[in-house]
Amino acid sequence: MNLPGFDVADIRASALGARERLIVALDVPNGNQAMVLVQCLENLVQWFKVGLELYLAEGNSIVERIRERGHSVFLDLKLHDIPNTVSGAIRSVSASGAGMLTVHAAGGHAMLAAAQETAESMPAAPKLLAVTVLTSMDQAQLDATGVSGSPSEQVLRLAGLAYETGLRGFVAGSQEIPELRASYPDSTLVIPGIRPAGVQAGDQKRVATPASAMADGADYLVVGRPITKAPDPAAAAQAIIDEMEAAART
Ligand code: C5P
Repeated sequence: MNLPGFDVADIRASALGARERLIVALDVPNGNQAMVLVQCLENLVQWFKVGLELYLAEGNSIVERIRERGHSVFLDLKLHDIPNTVSGAIRSVSASGAGMLTVHAAGGHAMLAAAQETAESMPAAPKLLAVTVLTSMDQAQLDATGVSGSPSEQVLRLAGLAYETGLRGFVAGSQEIPELRASYPDSTLVIPGIRPAGVQAGDQKRVATPASAMADGADYLVVGRPITKAPDPAAAAQAIIDEMEAAART
């Protein structure tokens, strides 16, 4: 399947539908469980997210297995280390064919610059996304880390840092979309912490419904447990896609 590139104008101008904007987080312990979910959602979803739990168990092979079935993979490794180590990690995962890869913006200017430079030097490197403030962090948790200001202020501070070093994609909460969109119109906004009405937030604190995140202007929504832990994951995914499509029409 040919997806538009990551030019933001392309993403918005194209008729990229909800199916291409929903990223399902495969937070499961092994490749077999992941592939059961991929097959169950095969005709509904284009993007799957591989996070630390699954990647540490399976390595690049799980990215390849998902891609072999025609899907796109978001590798959510949230790299955060010294510049040399992050550059090496990006070289190691670049060959996997993942389409997006996360680094922590809190790693700072030098780390982000090294990450971006390395990605640009690799033939098929994933698009780098800067993780700003985890959607599991509320004001009290942020305060306890010694960071001053609100979660939204910190998101904007970190997004600015990442943007200066050349990154053009951010992971943030839905609450921050309007300001990010206004400040960085050429960047891709990927939004986790999505909870349909009535679904438990669990460890997520800065949550939004699929409809409100779409209405705010998200490019991609990341949804894990509301789909993967549902009694019928395909039905749960379809309901979220319907909600996203309805929001996009209004
Ligand atoms: O199950 P749930 O929908 O909460 O999953 C959200 C996914 O998004 C998880 O895989 C989590 O690691 C990821 N994520 C997040 N907040 C961020 C970045 C990524 O929740 N800031």
